[in-house]
Amino acid sequence: MIEIKNLKKYYEDRLILEITNLNFSKGKIYSILGRNGAGKSTLLKILGGILSYDEGNLRYDRDNVILSTQEPLFFKGNVIYNLTEPFKLRNLKVELDKVTIFLKEFQIEKLKESSVDNLSGGEKAKIQFIRTILYNKKILLLDEPTASMDKKSTYVVERILSELRDMGCLIIIVTHDYEQAVRISNYIYEVDEGKIIQRGT
Ligand SMILES: Nc1ncnc2c1ncn2[C@@H]1O[C@H](COP(=O)(O)OP(=O)(O)OP(=O)(O)O)[C@@H](O)[C@H]1O
Ligand SMILES: [Mg+2]
Repeated sequence: MIEIKNLKKYYEDRLILEITNLNFSKGKIYSILGRNGAGKSTLLKILGGILSYDEGNLRYDRDNVILSTQEPLFFKGNVIYNLTEPFKLRNLKVELDKVTIFLKEFQIEKLKESSVDNLSGGEKAKIQFIRTILYNKKILLLDEPTASMDKKSTYVVERILSELRDMGCLIIIVTHDYEQAVRISNYIYEVDEGKIIQRGT
């Protein structure tokens, strides 16, 4: 559960986000649509704890959140390193069996030893998605996770997200793909000039 009250975020003196009252519940998928520059990534970064805000209150379990940013960040190294080292560093369990399963699901087992620098945009997005899921968090914030993926891989992501939702996760996904929002979400929101409006269920 996430509760947002009277949230305001400025860049210099420009008001970027203004959300009066908004709640997100567990076991649901929320899609957030909106024009370029509307404030979608800003909202996710604030909820992900990597960006400060100027006014308002946020209530949720911050330890149970994982943010997948719009631009992926990786360690220098190969795919396996990037799917294990982040967990080792945090003293979390490394789940190699799951890594193998997810690489198979996306049909990229052969990339295991490849340097992430050399991956295509869609391949990077897949590794970023797998890494996000491996954190086993209850709140997932995903900023355009499938923007560079092909159809088949997009459907794999959507199926995995639906399964996580059914297991009780709260998922907020930013997307420009309205059809995707309709396919997977319980609620559709639009950010417009920093304000958020519910567009459908
Ligand atoms: N660090 C910053 N300093 C000043 N302005 C910023 C900064 N980061 C973002 N902005 C501005 O804030 C606005 C919202 O940006 P944001 O990244 O949230 O948009 P978005 O809805 O995610 O857009 P897109 O669909 O292109 O990803 C934009 O106008 C952007 O230029
Ligand atoms: Mg964005």
